Amino acid sequence: MEKLSGMICEDVGAHLFRVARRAFTEPDVLARERDAIFDHCWLYVGHSSEIAANGDYVTRSVGGREIIFNRDRQGQVHTFLNTCPHRGAMVAREPQGNAAGFRCFYHGWSFHSDGRFASKFPEGNYGESHYQGGCANLTQAAQLAEYRGFWFLNFDAGAVDLETYLGDCREILDLVADQGENGMEIVSGNPNYVIHANWKLLAENSIDGYHAHLTHKTYIDYLGNVGNMRVDETFAAGLTTGSDLGSGHAMVEYPAPWGRPVARWVPSFGEGKKAMVEARAAELIARYGEKRGTRMAEWNRNMLIFPNLVVNDIMAITVRTFYPVTPDEMHVSGWALGVVGEDPDLRQLRLFNFLEFLGPGGFATPDDVEALEACQRGYRNQREAGWNDISKGMPREGQSRHDDEAQMRAFWREWDRRVGGAA
Ligand code: FES
Ligand code: FE
Repeated sequence: MEKLSGMICEDVGAHLFRVARRAFTEPDVLARERDAIFDHCWLYVGHSSEIAANGDYVTRSVGGREIIFNRDRQGQVHTFLNTCPHRGAMVAREPQGNAAGFRCFYHGWSFHSDGRFASKFPEGNYGESHYQGGCANLTQAAQLAEYRGFWFLNFDAGAVDLETYLGDCREILDLVADQGENGMEIVSGNPNYVIHANWKLLAENSIDGYHAHLTHKTYIDYLGNVGNMRVDETFAAGLTTGSDLGSGHAMVEYPAPWGRPVARWVPSFGEGKKAMVEARAAELIARYGEKRGTRMAEWNRNMLIFPNLVVNDIMAITVRTFYPVTPDEMHVSGWALGVVGEDPDLRQLRLFNFLEFLGPGGFATPDDVEALEACQRGYRNQREAGWNDISKGMPREGQSRHDDEAQMRAFWREWDRRVGGAA
């Protein structure tokens, strides 16, 4: 078996792909990931709609740092490292707000909304050079860029540009961004939760079409009982895909077996909404053509943008990131994305779907948390049972299916390219 590194074994001829369980448990591996992945990849910061007005800001953790994501008074977007140039205190401590500038609570240093130092001290306190050269300004992340309302930062000034990095993911983000004639927006209020498992388990799980019918059987049964399963011929015929989108990005795509507020009606939406939802589907087809319009209305997609942005466009749209705290603990943040100007009843259905399946107390998340934490506990046996198997679908010719594991192999090859060789 060919060893790509000490932690991945791939044997294409024998159709075997294995990952060492120590990749999920060792502090040294996490230290290497912080350096090789989180310090060099494009990381999702937030959506344009969260900072729609000049002066709007949100604070959040990104790549192990504390960040201010804001739109300054002139409308320019920034990502500042949330640390005062004086002694280091976080200058913005609210989760969100609108501010003409920031004032550090510790000794009162002030900053304009574009990060420039704004305080003036009487003579004798500081020399001229203190006010020059930007040394008292807030520090910005090395790179910041947007694609279709999704903003990403990069702590590496030498990293490739965002569009190159996203590659084929752009087409999928377009399928999401184009669902609203007037754009898409993050719905306020977002779940944050902790999972006692390695972050890469959630990367795998987010594009894992193999587990759903078993792990989420309760939800599938419930949908069937309330008449909300509409399994079309394409799904039954196995016309589903699992795709390597390049550079560690991957996706599963399949016809929705359930309702999609964007444009796929099921009975729980109510007879009164049927015409409206069907008209929306017709509108998408008129705007984007039969093939793409139907794909947007009827098909689900779960995409992982390497390393840790998930966009699940399913019965609702969730945008999700997750960061390691220790090898066996991650912090997860999720947001619901909706169509700007959506009918209030459809918006309510969207949010109900979001919470019902994807919310931390919904049908799916507790199931997945249980599965991921069970894996992590299982890795205590790694000395005797040291390898995960990720081989499903390798003998299949041509396009992989959504319940194969080609997507995870794509993630792991990129992970190995960045991390494995040095471990
Ligand atoms: Fe911010 Fe002193 S730490 S003003
Ligand atoms: Fe799941």
